[in-house]
This record gives sequence, C-alpha cells and structure tokens, in this order.
Amino acid sequence: MKHLIAPSVLSCDFANIQRDVEMINNSEADWFHIDVMDGVFVPNISFGFPVLKAIKKHAKKTIDVHLMIVNPDQYVEEFAKSGADVLTVHYEACPHLHRTIQLIHSFGMKAAVALHPHTNVSVLENVIEDLDMVLIMSVNPGFGGQKFIDNAINKVKQTKALIERTNSNAIIEVDGGVNLETGKKLIDAGADVLVAGSFVFNSPNPNETITQLKEM
Ligand code: DX5
Ligand code: ZN
Repeated sequence: MKHLIAPSVLSCDFANIQRDVEMINNSEADWFHIDVMDGVFVPNISFGFPVLKAIKKHAKKTIDVHLMIVNPDQYVEEFAKSGADVLTVHYEACPHLHRTIQLIHSFGMKAAVALHPHTNVSVLENVIEDLDMVLIMSVNPGFGGQKFIDNAINKVKQTKALIERTNSNAIIEVDGGVNLETGKKLIDAGADVLVAGSFVFNSPNPNETITQLKEM
C-alpha cells in the first residue's frame, strides 16, 4: 500500500487549533496523530479528552490516538467515546496486553501497540496476530522535535519480518524525528504510516511539507 502520513497535532499552534485541523483536512495527510501524555509514563503532559473532542469536531480524517499514559485500560471506553478510530497503547504500560487489545477491539477501535526504542520487537510475537498496527518509536516518547534514532530502521525490518511469517494483518507506524530523509529510509524498510510533528508544523508551508512526505 502507498504509505500514509499522520501529522502530529502536538506540534500545532494550540491557540489556533481549528486552523491547523483545517490545514490537515485540506492537505494530503491521511490521519490525525494525537499524543496523550500523563506526566507519569513520560516526562511531559500534553492534553486529554476536551482537546481530543474539540479536534474530533472538525477533523475529517482518521483519528490516531497515541496513549503515553499508565493504566490505559481505565480510559479505553472514554477514548472511544471521544472519537478515537485507532488506539495505541505502550507495551511498557500494559501488564495484561492481550486483554487490553481485546478491550480496544470491543469498543470498535483498531488496536495498536507502541514500543520504546529499547524494547525488542520479539515481545509482540504472541499478540501480533491480534494487532491492527505496531508503532515503532524512533525517539524516546515525551516530546516533539527530537533526533531520530537510526536503530528504528532495523526494528521496522524486524517487525515486517514478524508480520510476514505470521497471519498478521498489522501495519507499521513510525513516530519521532521523521523528515524527508528518515522518512524515505523508513518506507524502504517497510513502514506504512509516518507520523511527523515538528517537521510539518515548523516548516514555512505545512501543507506543502505534507505533500512532500506523501509523495516521496
Ligand atoms: C513523541 C510523540 C510524537 C511527536 C513527534 O513522544 O509521540 O508523536 O509529536 O514529533 P516529531 O515529529 O517532532 O519528532
Ligand atoms: Zn506519537
């Protein structure tokens, strides 16, 4: 499949959030990537349900919610009600990961699992057939604008191999430090969805930058 682009709303101008949501609506972007951080699982606090609901009101594309929170099970239902289409939890936050994946599916959402840069892809072997997506973190989660960790490319290849040798239909998303250079390498390695925050929103023409990411 042609790769998808998911601009990360974390890097948008929160005083002009509707303007930036409309920019994404009118661009070649495929998804909205929404980063929820609780200040416990990661050393930063972003935003929660009221902001997600406000985005959902205007967004015309798939809502891809990346939870960087402890005990995500507690909030799965509320994220479904708030408009999430794809819900990503961290492997490192889920002691009962199989149960969490089932819970996400029970609310009609696609289920994805994210891996920190230090977490081996092999930990997903026993759940890969239940997953709709794997999210490979190419930075340590918590902040936009960090430097891409090159080993993410190896992990995308390993994830692709795992998907191919099982009956999994999972796709592969990568998040952190994506630009035209790292993005190209990731697509060649097998990535299906590229998240991009600062590269899009810090560029002079975000709409045009999304087109470049889509067309590379
Ligand atoms: C980081 C977040 C990312 C972040 C990416 O913890 O999960 O989605 O917004 O930002 P960039 O593209 O600037 O690395
Ligand atoms: Zn993210």
